Amino acid sequence: MARKRVAILISGRGSNMVALIKAAKAKNYPAEIVLVISNRPEAKGLELAQAEGIPTAVIDHKAFSSREEFDAAIDRELKTAKIDIVCLAGFMRVLTDCFVERWRGRMLNIHPSLLPAFKGTDTHRHALLAKAETHGATVHFVVPELDSGPIVMQAEVPVLPDDTEEKLAARVLKVEHRIYPAALKLLASGKIRIDGDRVVAI
Ligand code: GAR
Repeated sequence: MARKRVAILISGRGSNMVALIKAAKAKNYPAEIVLVISNRPEAKGLELAQAEGIPTAVIDHKAFSSREEFDAAIDRELKTAKIDIVCLAGFMRVLTDCFVERWRGRMLNIHPSLLPAFKGTDTHRHALLAKAETHGATVHFVVPELDSGPIVMQAEVPVLPDDTEEKLAARVLKVEHRIYPAALKLLASGKIRIDGDRVVAI
């Protein structure tokens, strides 16, 4: 089966992007990373992608007068590159419902919490404030409602008594780098499908 063509959308550091790029280098991985798009020209991840030999594009949201126009520009870039699957990896822009619907079932996101707990930003701070005993990360299909959508994979980490936001974030990031490539592998190899609001094995 032909490897699926994947684009990764980033806004910053790009460590999940690097995890996906490295995983996709394996011979039997069912997807190849063919494009990285950043909405921020200064995103650190752009240099990391270039160092891995992956084509990059900057589509700066500030250059567009509406979300619709920005999303249309991204969509054009994805179409030109014949993209099959989109992975959001620290992409910090809310996408329009129209764009999300167009990519429904073909777009994944990684979120640093055990969804549905702690949607939105500052998840590690919120987990500490809530005195959560466990925390973690989730890979899910993107739907119009923020940080929702059928869950492909989750990984749990303990919250330790002397945790700071930084310590907890680092522990979560480690499992993010493990589950994102694993979740993309499931989707790209056609081993999962969406059934209502759940993901089921085929
Ligand atoms: C990651 O922790 C990711 O889960 C989070 O941003 C970070 C990006 O780091 N994403 C979100 O909060 C999306 N709601 P990275 O650029 O090093 O992958």
